[in-house]
Amino acid sequence: MNSPLAAQHSPSASEDLVGLFDIRPSDAPASAEERQAAIAAPKFGTVFTDHMARISWSAQDGWKDRRIERYGPLQLDPATAVLHYAQEIFEGLKAYRHEDGSVWTFRPEANAARFARSAHRLALPSLSVEDFIGSITALVRTDVEWVPSGEEASLYLRPFMYASEPFLGVRPSLEAEYLVIASPVGPYFAGGVKPVSIWVEREFSRAGAGGTGAAKCGGNYASSLLPQVRAQEHGCEQVCFLDASTGTLLEELGGMNVFVVKSDGSVETPELTGSILEGVTRSSIIQLLSDRGHTVVERRIPLDELLAGIEDGSVTEVFACGTAAVVTPIGRLAGSSFDHTISGGGAGELTMAVRGELTDIQTGRAADRHGWLRRLA
Ligand code: COI
Repeated sequence: MNSPLAAQHSPSASEDLVGLFDIRPSDAPASAEERQAAIAAPKFGTVFTDHMARISWSAQDGWKDRRIERYGPLQLDPATAVLHYAQEIFEGLKAYRHEDGSVWTFRPEANAARFARSAHRLALPSLSVEDFIGSITALVRTDVEWVPSGEEASLYLRPFMYASEPFLGVRPSLEAEYLVIASPVGPYFAGGVKPVSIWVEREFSRAGAGGTGAAKCGGNYASSLLPQVRAQEHGCEQVCFLDASTGTLLEELGGMNVFVVKSDGSVETPELTGSILEGVTRSSIIQLLSDRGHTVVERRIPLDELLAGIEDGSVTEVFACGTAAVVTPIGRLAGSSFDHTISGGGAGELTMAVRGELTDIQTGRAADRHGWLRRLA
């Protein structure tokens, strides 16, 4: 039998995937007025749709009970493994409403593949690409009225999986739950798309060699929170981590990858060393920049070299990227012994050009020449 994913864009392929899910409509959905008010100008990640997708797993039965059900609290036994040992992974992707009303998502197969890699690293069960894409498609179709339209607006999808067995022994859980929740969002940073300031953290690392840095698991984000607070205490919006082994090389921000634009037009980004998350936006930007004729180099970038480049003008722009933040200019880079303004504190030209190009593809304003979009509804 052909995989339903073989013909990605055919409506029947999507029907096959959605058909796996039992749709159990909420008996208390928001009214049209409530929904409109909720999606008007939401603060990132604070408003959720009427439903969630869910699949349960046990070592004995495998994946079962695919359903779309009312969004609501989970009941957890206090001994549930995830609460003790953080056996949990997640993803982030977005659904975009195009001008003709259709709804699309961006490279979901890449998120599904990363989810499988994260599951492997966290000793969680592997979810098939069909279940990953079927779950987001079924949820978005059920809550399609919640997909906002307009500049910077999208429905942020958050698939996640956690160890649900009530058991205090330290071993992989024999039970797991996979869910997808959806949240209408505007820009990730309050204040819209404007340059952010970054604090370079020297004491704490995000992840080390052989650790979980390349997996999208909650623990990586938990370890970024104290440094993030310290960044804010220094007047910065985000933290940038250095490698744990030498403390000299750029890694990534709390939840975003980082790019450096040089005056000769080349662009650099930290290479994937095993402790950096392989961002879907990161790889898309590498492709878009290469298409524009820029040389893009993935390599180890020493902080000292970056600082010297900012000082002598050979570094002209620095930007961050991720699903939530899209492409965000970095206007200031500060640390215990330096405080540099980049691009005059404004948004770099190439940064904004690549941002525009990416969002134009995602929202259907530009041709999808790489076949990155998948129709959801
Ligand atoms: C994303 O960009 O989707 C992320 O996961 C970053 C953050 C919201 C955790």
